[in-house]
Amino acid sequence: MNKIKVGIIGSGFIAEHHCYAYSLLPNVEIIGICSINEDEARVLMKKYNLLGKLYNNYEDLLKTDCEIISVCVPNFLHQRITNDILNSGKHAFVEKPLARNISEANEMLETEKSSNRQIFYCENNMYAPSFTKVKQVIEEGAIGQIYMGRGKEQHSGPHSAWFYKANESGGGALLDLGIHDIACLLWYLDCNVKEVFCQKKTIKPNRGDFGQCEVEDNAVGILYFENDAQIIIEESWTAPGGYDMRFELFGTEGQIKVAPTFSNLVSVYSEKGYEYAVEKAGSTQGWTFPVPSEAWSFGYPQEIAHFISCITKKKKPLTDGTFGRRVLNIVDAMYKSATTKKVEEVEHLI
Ligand SMILES: NC(=O)c1ccc[n+]([C@@H]2O[C@H](COP(=O)([O-])OP(=O)(O)OC[C@H]3O[C@@H](n4cnc5c(N)ncnc54)[C@H](O)[C@@H]3O)[C@@H](O)[C@H]2O)c1
Repeated sequence: MNKIKVGIIGSGFIAEHHCYAYSLLPNVEIIGICSINEDEARVLMKKYNLLGKLYNNYEDLLKTDCEIISVCVPNFLHQRITNDILNSGKHAFVEKPLARNISEANEMLETEKSSNRQIFYCENNMYAPSFTKVKQVIEEGAIGQIYMGRGKEQHSGPHSAWFYKANESGGGALLDLGIHDIACLLWYLDCNVKEVFCQKKTIKPNRGDFGQCEVEDNAVGILYFENDAQIIIEESWTAPGGYDMRFELFGTEGQIKVAPTFSNLVSVYSEKGYEYAVEKAGSTQGWTFPVPSEAWSFGYPQEIAHFISCITKKKKPLTDGTFGRRVLNIVDAMYKSATTKKVEEVEHLI
């Protein structure tokens, strides 16, 4: 079997998920990993028995004959690296957020058009089994028309210093976590957001070894949809106890609650603790709610499998670059609202 050759740029948290996801696919071969952190990349390569090469300059990976490259680097590098990947004749699997802001995203989509290659937008939540089930139930009309609801993504804060630096991340909890909620809500309601309101705060400016937090670590917003639904989103980087993600959606004929974490599928009370419960749990002592098959529950391998299948079958992915830009456009309007303290219109995208 001729395998599809892929490369990965980055060797941190999300690069590992890409490695794992690719390694599950018999028709895919990881031919190289590029990272500025060689030790970290070596650990990853050993863990997944990768035979490919280690690169410390991504431009060398672009010279290889791989077909796809995963962009698993800090947000400020998404635009430049994605453009270079597309211009080198390869497809780019770009992690969320697509870029730091809408103007970077616009430029990436221009490059996509001129390069005749594709951006696949990595929004794993839209491939997570629990969130996918919600979509199916909504599509069947089980809860009627959604008119109100809330979504939230919260944890104690990211694991690398760059997330906290305004110029490197482009934004805080809203951009990092809110982007997941907004993506799912666009998908669930199948409707545009016309206006937004947002307030943001930084309540924990000192992040110890990571330095100052220059971006918001908390944000709350309201999305006003064109069909009159109004949905609140709450995003936090200061909530200890592990990754909490959930939606409550109210429709004219029912309601849905979904929480892939903090659910009671497995509940553990332990006085001495155990190895791992869920991302950013901090502790496993006392009552904990471990997530079984976390990568699978969060949709990472399903997302990559979907992208690969779209390439082999020449189909449009559920989450493409245009979708990534649409989500970012809403985030941009929310940042504007947080500054003006007014409800802001979401610009209509062509
Ligand atoms: N889908 C999700 O749920 C999810 C989760 C976490 C992160 N992410 C996204 O993934 C991206 C990376 O985040 P992370 O958590 O993996 O960060 P991380 O800090 O854990 O890893 C970043 C990696 O990028 C590498 N890197 C930095 N500059 C580089 C360069 N010039 N060339 C090659 N490698 C370079 C670093 O060595 C490191 O391995 C971000 O855009 C983030 O928003 C998505």
